Amino acid sequence: MNKVLVTLLLSLGLSSAAYAAGGAAIVGDAEAGKTKTAVCGACHGADGNSAAPNFPKLAGQGEKYLFKQLQDVKSGKRQIVEMTGLLTNLSDQDLADIAAYYASQSMSVGAADPALVARGAELFRGGKLEEGMPACTGCHSPNGAGNALAGYPKLGGQHGAYVAKQLTDFREGNRTNDGDTLIMRAIAAKLSNKDIAAVSSYIQGLH
Ligand code: HEC
Ligand code: HEC
Repeated sequence: MNKVLVTLLLSLGLSSAAYAAGGAAIVGDAEAGKTKTAVCGACHGADGNSAAPNFPKLAGQGEKYLFKQLQDVKSGKRQIVEMTGLLTNLSDQDLADIAAYYASQSMSVGAADPALVARGAELFRGGKLEEGMPACTGCHSPNGAGNALAGYPKLGGQHGAYVAKQLTDFREGNRTNDGDTLIMRAIAAKLSNKDIAAVSSYIQGLH
């Protein structure tokens, strides 16, 4: 990959991230991306704020994270039956443009169940140290904004039902695209169903 070019593009202050793919640097173009998301809006909302809680919000999500998920969904590394075939004819440039478009939008915030806030906050901010599970804040940041450059996804405001499904999928081994360190599978292994319900509700209201 052309590290020099990537560094140069980044240092020029372009708002979009640059990716190295197939030996060439790719920079996402949000405006071009918008025109490529017509088919996505039915589930994810025109600006990426989906109405249905089982469809994740994409608006304001980190560009690097989005690009990786799109590549994983396209390759089948992350299986999403609802999206079968939708990415097949899209190039890396198309995926980068789409990632840049959604990243340029802002994620709406939901509300947490007041009955679950205390336990949710405890898990999110304190982890379960006695079981060796770190706090979520370390990677997803205290306000849930994530770490866009590191590719750690934004969680704050995301639909609780979607978050709960992801944590359950990581725990049960139904989502396995979190890398060789099994970063999220190891964490989800320490979460009970009650823990997942509490932390997911907390995340939905977090901003
Ligand atoms: C028929 C509904 C549907 C359509 C159309 C659809 N998606 Fe999805 N998408 C989903 C569902 C459902 C999930 C979450 C699956 C799961 O639970 O893991 C998802 C997940 C995603 C994710 C991962 C989000 C995250 O936070 O990890 C991205 C990125 C994404 N979709 C992008 C797109 C793009 C781009 C398009 C259009 C080319 C599209 N989707 C079209 C239903 C849809
Ligand atoms: C050591 C860093 C780290 C810690 C600590 C961590 N995460 Fe993650 N998390 C990640 C990474 C990296 C990903 C993206 C994995 C991928 O590329 O698919 C992720 C993904 C997720 C996702 C999927 C997001 C989406 O849009 O699909 C959820 C939900 C999540 N984490 C919740 C949590 C919760 C809740 C905690 C605390 C109990 C936590 N994470 C702790 C690094 C971390």
